[in-house]
Amino acid sequence: MGKIKNICCIGAGYVGGPTMAVIAAKCPDIKVTIVDLNAARIAAWNDENLENLPVYEPGLDKIVAEARGRNLFFSTEVDKAIDEAEMIFISVNTPTKTYGLGKGKAADLKFIELCARQIAAVSKTDKIVVEKSTLPVRTAEAIRDILDNTGNGVNYQILSNPEFLAEGTAIEDLLAPDRVLIGGETKEGGKEAMEALVEVYANWIPRERILTTNVWSSELSKLTANAFLAQRVSSINAISELCEKTEANVSEVARAIGMDSRIGSKFLKASVGFGGSCFQKDILNLVYIAKTYGLNEVADYWEQVIIMNDHQKRRFASNIIKTLYNTVSGKKIAFLGWAFKKDTNDTRESAAIYVADDLLFEQANIAVFDPKVEEKQMHYDVNYLNTRDKEENKKGITVFADPYEACKDAHAIAILTEWDEFKEYDWQRIYDNMKKPAFVFDGRNLLDGEKLTSIGFVFQAIGR
Ligand code: NAD
Ligand code: UGA
Repeated sequence: MGKIKNICCIGAGYVGGPTMAVIAAKCPDIKVTIVDLNAARIAAWNDENLENLPVYEPGLDKIVAEARGRNLFFSTEVDKAIDEAEMIFISVNTPTKTYGLGKGKAADLKFIELCARQIAAVSKTDKIVVEKSTLPVRTAEAIRDILDNTGNGVNYQILSNPEFLAEGTAIEDLLAPDRVLIGGETKEGGKEAMEALVEVYANWIPRERILTTNVWSSELSKLTANAFLAQRVSSINAISELCEKTEANVSEVARAIGMDSRIGSKFLKASVGFGGSCFQKDILNLVYIAKTYGLNEVADYWEQVIIMNDHQKRRFASNIIKTLYNTVSGKKIAFLGWAFKKDTNDTRESAAIYVADDLLFEQANIAVFDPKVEEKQMHYDVNYLNTRDKEENKKGITVFADPYEACKDAHAIAILTEWDEFKEYDWQRIYDNMKKPAFVFDGRNLLDGEKLTSIGFVFQAIGR
């Protein structure tokens, strides 16, 4: 296998889009084509106006502008792109199964299998197939089975190359990753395939940061990394509840333990609970895998991370209700933020959705402002929970384009996302226009509590 000249990526989502755009920007000699079945998404990636890209990430527009039309292409012609490429990344969604065996836990691999079958049907020349999606350990075995049994007799190499980028910092993470992980098969040609992918990344990443392992270690490392990260958030959130009972301050505790170099300071921010498309899904998947091997203690251990996170979201909502004299019925509660973290328009599994749902059960009127999330997405998110009919959801949630309007006449404000701009608001003006007492529930420990209290707010944060 010589140098790679032509890459195809199946799946133009939050991972496929930014990841391939960076490869194209850094490797001008490689033609990169990103394909997707979703024609609207591809059209948005091709939109002249870079503000309309389907994924919002700081710096993404510049990278796309640099490479698009030169060696970066977005297309719906999946077969053509597969046929032309020497290396094919599979970057499709792998959500939690919502039906059948493993419902609610196992990863749904139907999109992965469809890709494998399509690659097998179309390929006329040898291919390196790269798992970019996050997958259960040993998925490469299933992909190999499909490729070998339904293919045209061409040779395949399967690599695992999980993605570690975080949303909101995707471009930074891709340009200077802590590490790139490449897992390869031990069979003949496996080493060469790994080297071909190493060569691609080595265009901008120091070789000592490119780690090669066997394919199973690579698959399992991705699930493990997410489980460890989420576990840190649940651990500090568990301590936050204890802080609230004992007058300890969770930020001080986090700082004190984080200075121990064995613990480290990152990922210790107490919050209303972690969201995002992956932490929950990947831990549930890990739990499911452990159970299928009969490792019940292992499964229970990791499941606790999710149980703690659900508890943290729920207790944030119940604290709002309790503090507002045990009723929010008919009260306006303003949400600042809907995205699962700042600097992204992604709302998947955002804590805001669950807090909203709990408050809707109590007949609150929710007023939302988020700088990047569209109104229809918010309604979609709440409807997706299927807890009441759509009309009722629509009545309960009003979306505002102006934060001051969202907060006007509100009984309380809840901070659900840590957008920087919230810190800069004119909080005196907000206070003056609210019902009194004016409550702020800071689910992100973002605002200056002392300042808000001196204005007159009743201020509550997490873990203090
Ligand atoms: P996404 O839903 O944003 O994008 C997936 C895309 O794949 C969709 O546009 C869908 O239309 C397309 N697709 C599905 N089946 C297809 C097919 N057969 N042919 C062509 N296109 C098809 O998902 P995402 O957030 O990009 O995640 C993709 C994978 O990467 C998941 O396994 C996820 O766990 C993993 N991951 C995500 C992140 C993240 O930050 N979002 C980070 C690391 C890893
Ligand atoms: C996470 C991982 O950080 C990435 O390495 C991984 O590639 C990705 O999942 C994935 O596999 O999808 P992401 O979910 O985009 O990335 O964002 P994070 O920064 O990890 O935040 C996840 C959630 O945890 C957010 O809701 C965030 O607000 C919350 N969080 C994070 C906290 O509440 N406290 C913290 O200290 C850190």
